Amino acid sequence: MFTVKLSSEAPELIEAPALATWVFEQSNPLDGPLAELDQKAGSRLKELVEAGELTGKAGETLLLHYPAGFKTQRLLLLGAGKPKKFSPAIDVRQLAGLATRFLKARKVTEFTFWLGRNHATPEAAQAVVEGVLLANFDPASYRTNGKKEKPVADLQLVGFDAKNEKEVAAAVQRGQVIAEAQNFARELANEPSNRLTPRLFAERATAMARDAGLELDVLDEARLRELKMGALLSVAQGSAEPPRLVVLTYTPPTWKQGQPVLGLVGKGITFDTGGISIKPSDGMEKMKYDMAGGATMAGAMRALAVLKPAHKIIALIPLAENMPGSRAQKPGDVQIAMSGKSIEVINTDAEGRLVLADALTYARQLGATHLIDAATLTGAVVVALGYVNVGTFGNNQKFLDAFLASGRAVGEKFWVLPVDDDYRDNIKSAIADIQNVGKGRGGGATNAAIFLKEFVDDTPWIHLDIAGTAWLEEAKPGMAKGPSGVAVRTLIHFAEHFSPGA
Ligand code: BES
Ligand code: ZN
Ligand code: ZN
Repeated sequence: MFTVKLSSEAPELIEAPALATWVFEQSNPLDGPLAELDQKAGSRLKELVEAGELTGKAGETLLLHYPAGFKTQRLLLLGAGKPKKFSPAIDVRQLAGLATRFLKARKVTEFTFWLGRNHATPEAAQAVVEGVLLANFDPASYRTNGKKEKPVADLQLVGFDAKNEKEVAAAVQRGQVIAEAQNFARELANEPSNRLTPRLFAERATAMARDAGLELDVLDEARLRELKMGALLSVAQGSAEPPRLVVLTYTPPTWKQGQPVLGLVGKGITFDTGGISIKPSDGMEKMKYDMAGGATMAGAMRALAVLKPAHKIIALIPLAENMPGSRAQKPGDVQIAMSGKSIEVINTDAEGRLVLADALTYARQLGATHLIDAATLTGAVVVALGYVNVGTFGNNQKFLDAFLASGRAVGEKFWVLPVDDDYRDNIKSAIADIQNVGKGRGGGATNAAIFLKEFVDDTPWIHLDIAGTAWLEEAKPGMAKGPSGVAVRTLIHFAEHFSPGA
């Protein structure tokens, strides 16, 4: 259980295992109330500034035990970097995450965060709660030797005026819903493939939908066959594990037929061996997270069920295991997608676009008027953008711009790459309508996107290639290494602000 308390008490009077706050990197890192308090208590902090031990540089941590002038057992000062670059919604989340990881590593599982005079807003309160919960996530879920860190369970926020208490409490709630949704996505992406097959993913989604109050449909192999989802089925046929297609639906009470529907589609390959075009064994274990796009969409829906945006939203997660079994598809095979397009499968490792093709088609059949997909789709996007930005593609500038604005608002990074029709020739096939890999060298992330574009027609669409960003190779100050849950927060923000035609 995670509890959050709000307090308007003076920070120096707070009795807590730890009190955390931040200082800026500026000529005097101590300013405002902290400086006043320090002066009264003998200027010990000022001495640390003069000695160069407290600078306010981003990422800095300084822990003082029984600080003079305070009742707290520990004072944790966090470097916030230059004040000009500071954004309350983004940096406060990171600082709270930094504090959480720092403290829980020292077995402190209860602390107070002091937001300072000008920053005690509902927005900042939400960011603190998100930062703490995201930093609490521990990927070592199967460790049995008792060395697991205990998460921070009790958080107190100080610095607020009693008069905006209601808004702050609501913001705390929001923060909790959003961070828990992101962590839900991370949990799924972290699961090994033997513990998260397509059927088990569908079961987890079913349990989530029941708890959240979402409508749910799980399509089994027979129904996928009836719908003629030849592209999705072709990927699954090499595995003993049958495929599934999970459809989650959120309908606001005011929704009427004919109104816009946002369709979210997430790649759900529970393990990608590459199939007959098998991958090298080095690093192949990572391919358990090839369902991170599906996890992202499930996570976003979990939060949206609570936050209740104004528009109808459907999420589709095509699930399959890409294996080189005796029935596996082979290079050169031709498959007929649900849309009727024929696809020459040149490389069975380019399976993500195949399962997405049918899910995008079905999303439109179910009434989606706007589409966003997320997928760990290409190694090429990692070459292009590394591990920092999500490769982002779109066919509608307005839709794309609104999405990018959501990304900026919640502190996630997206970088737009091209999908214009000049790339279309790259996927021309000698035998079928299209082929599943691009010709020639280079532009691999765009070739994948141009393939998907074949299945969306004129529907406004955004494609997110999260191959480089869904898994953190290194821990960040506020996040463990492992699954990141990237794009969950942006999708939630976007769905809440979605206003087509406006
Ligand atoms: N799941 C992979 C992409 C991937 C790579 C995800 C690295 C995460 C990290 C995808 O199915 C794949 O294998 N793509 C191929 C496509 C190629 C055969 C055209 C790739 O990127 O090599
Ligand atoms: Zn693959
Ligand atoms: Zn894949």
